[in-house]
Amino acid sequence: MDTTTIKQRYHITTFGCQMNKADSERMAGIIENMGFEWSEDPNNADLIIYNTCTIRDSAEQKVYSYLGKQAKRKHKEPNLTLVIAGCLAQQEGEALLRRVPELDLVMGPQHANRLENLLQQVYNGNQVVATESVHILEDITTPRRDSTVTAWVNVIYGCNERCTYCVVPNVRGIEQSRTPEAIRAEIEQLAKLGYKEITLLGQNIDAYGRDLPGITPEGRHQHTLTDLLYFIHDVPGIERLRFATSHPRYFTERLIKACAELPKVCEHFHIPFQSGDNEILKQMSRGYSHEKYRRIIDTIRRYVPDATISGDAIAGFPGETEAQFENTLKLMTDIVFDHTNTAAYSPRPGTPAAVWDNQLSEDVKRDRLQQLNHLVSIQAEMRNQRYLHRVEEVLVEDQNPKTPTQVMGRNRGNRLTFFTGNINELKGKLVPVKITEARAFSLTGEAQKPTY
Ligand code: SAH
Ligand code: SF4
Ligand code: F3S
Repeated sequence: MDTTTIKQRYHITTFGCQMNKADSERMAGIIENMGFEWSEDPNNADLIIYNTCTIRDSAEQKVYSYLGKQAKRKHKEPNLTLVIAGCLAQQEGEALLRRVPELDLVMGPQHANRLENLLQQVYNGNQVVATESVHILEDITTPRRDSTVTAWVNVIYGCNERCTYCVVPNVRGIEQSRTPEAIRAEIEQLAKLGYKEITLLGQNIDAYGRDLPGITPEGRHQHTLTDLLYFIHDVPGIERLRFATSHPRYFTERLIKACAELPKVCEHFHIPFQSGDNEILKQMSRGYSHEKYRRIIDTIRRYVPDATISGDAIAGFPGETEAQFENTLKLMTDIVFDHTNTAAYSPRPGTPAAVWDNQLSEDVKRDRLQQLNHLVSIQAEMRNQRYLHRVEEVLVEDQNPKTPTQVMGRNRGNRLTFFTGNINELKGKLVPVKITEARAFSLTGEAQKPTY
């Protein structure tokens, strides 16, 4: 391929979670390294990658409609290269070629770092399917990151749980932890580039290190998330550390203590609960009770009283009775979350719960989802009131796209915060901001003169 005269253009649309976004950034880095340049408009791109998600049916349907349009375009522009990556690609594999024969490459998430090699095969005239399970290559390229202030760093890939509703173990494979040295080296590199905030990523990040060798004299794994936080904490230049997502099963008091002790670790915990009912939790194979979940939150609040707490919940799991659903509302009412991601249960191919005969009607699921969402916004607004008139530390990320005289960033609790200021001066700075307005999902304030 001759890229010396006119640069080929590429476009990536990302459909999924933070892990999916991080994969897109790495794939973009690989493609730019190959000489392509970014095209915001997919219709002007020579190479399109749909990095897909299959967590719920709605995510899947969206991909098919995007893909259909580009497949048609390919009939007129046969040089267009069409790639489907990510979790739906892994789930469907070759079946996608039958559904969309115009596709050039179908690749699962474990293959993201091998994109260059896969594209070479395509440019040699092959239609390629890369979905076999592989050892994930260490990052061999520099990701093209969306932000210059905050960065994601993968620490553990895959998931070893078997929640009965969830496709992730099928599509992301078994847990593979990166070594603490590789993670630290990436963070040091990011610090040199001027990044201020790092979010460590994993499907169950607190399961980190279980697959790495080494057991301590006390009988625990030598490399845990807690140890990792201590190991990376002193990287100069990095001001904030976050991590997501945590599974209640692996969340330890040691980890909470570390978060309380280490100044760079932000006071935000994202711990999905899914349901507040023990029988449903058992049917989901979550491996904890609502009592255990409540104990974790109590411990967090004991060590870190001001922590923001968020979770995920599913409405209308198969067989969920009205009383069981009310136990979820009760858990939320007792805890009062800063935020909860909610979803109606969606039966997914290849998961146990999808074939149970006690599925609930769409109406019931929708109604319960609405009740959850109503409670979510009431709680979010209630919790945000505590910031009113307080001075919060905000890391400035960008201009407010709706009000260009304002900048936006997040406080340590991960709340989106707007205030008047010039992005050219403030990008990447930690600014003390006095909060003057607290809404359910964002805050507004005024920059304070630093006292130092
Ligand atoms: N590993 C994380 C969650 C990853 S998936 C954990 O276990 O907590 C992100 C969220 O999607 C889940 O927390 C769950 O709330 C939701 N989800 C997963 N499968 C779903 C399904 N089949 N229907 C509805 N929501 C689902
Ligand atoms: Fe899915 Fe459960 Fe794994 Fe989370 S822990 S990714 S919900 S299987
Ligand atoms: Fe979706 Fe895959 Fe993430 S299914 S939520 S993109 S792990």
